[in-house]
Amino acid sequence: MKLLIIGKTGQLGSMLVKDAESRHDVFAPSKKDLDITDTESFIEKVKYFLPDVVINTAAFHNVLLCETEERNAFMLNCIAVKNMAEISNKFNSWFFSFSTDYVFDGKKREPYIESDIPSPLQIYGLSKLAGEYAALAYSNKSIIIRTCGLYGLEGASSKGGNFVDNRIKESKKKTVIEISNDQTVSPTYAGDLSRGVLQLIEHPAKRSGIFHMVNEGYCTWYEFTKEIFRILDIDVEVVPVDRKGRTGNMKRPLFSALKNEKAAKLGITLPGWREGLFSYLNYNCNSRI
Ligand SMILES: NC(=O)c1ccc[n+]([C@@H]2O[C@H](COP(=O)([O-])OP(=O)(O)OC[C@H]3O[C@@H](n4cnc5c(N)ncnc54)[C@H](OP(=O)(O)O)[C@@H]3O)[C@@H](O)[C@H]2O)c1
Repeated sequence: MKLLIIGKTGQLGSMLVKDAESRHDVFAPSKKDLDITDTESFIEKVKYFLPDVVINTAAFHNVLLCETEERNAFMLNCIAVKNMAEISNKFNSWFFSFSTDYVFDGKKREPYIESDIPSPLQIYGLSKLAGEYAALAYSNKSIIIRTCGLYGLEGASSKGGNFVDNRIKESKKKTVIEISNDQTVSPTYAGDLSRGVLQLIEHPAKRSGIFHMVNEGYCTWYEFTKEIFRILDIDVEVVPVDRKGRTGNMKRPLFSALKNEKAAKLGITLPGWREGLFSYLNYNCNSRI
């Protein structure tokens, strides 16, 4: 298949390019060559490559900045997504884009499935939810994959690196580390997600709609941090703190674990979060930090 992958320097995009290249024809322009807010440039790339599938991993996902840069958040997470879905549909291409656990408010207190009703608590979640609706409204070959707590080998530059690498770096400077214990999530390794996404792209029975794709199970960021240090045998004291899901006035959902119900029905499953973390740590990361 011909895959147009957007966001090749990112956590997910870089893994998708690497995993897809051996079995698909991949075209992955840089942000300089294709800014998703530039519709004409997108049309040009689609006309040139005629992809079977467009995969958009680009987003504005610095949750705090979204609060003050509302316009940018909606431009990237909704308007650009709507335009790409509409154009992809005109060229009869599938359109895949990514969304977030932050479309939920956390009140369910158990893992969310695809049919649960979203109710975002902040601009980021709202802009991503608007992007979901727009993509599904403007293309009948549109798939939105919601994921959670993503970490990968590259990218996350807008967030100053990924959670795992940052905790390891922190452990080199401190003997006691405070980590929030108030948010329950499904941390997801970009390598596992990339494999799941490609399985879905290749699946003959895929249908337009929303899919959840995360490493199975859930934990708090405190429990996740303890597991990072356990695997790497790092001796640091981790202290749980309760921030009540808040950073200033911005609210985060206290429970936003996801359940991969629809993908599982197609036979697509991801490993548990501990296995995902183990794979990531084995793959890389002592050498990089
Ligand atoms: N990270 C998480 O914890 C998380 C959680 C849930 C859902 N998600 C969703 O998962 C998806 C992938 O996230 P990620 O962590 O892989 O993102 P990431 O590492 O930040 O990568 C984003 C990629 O998009 C590119 N990009 C940014 N703005 C662009 C623009 N205007 N035009 C074209 N390309 C642009 C970036 O290029 P540069 O590197 O050049 O800026 C980068 O290659 C996103 O939709 C995100 O909302 C992420």
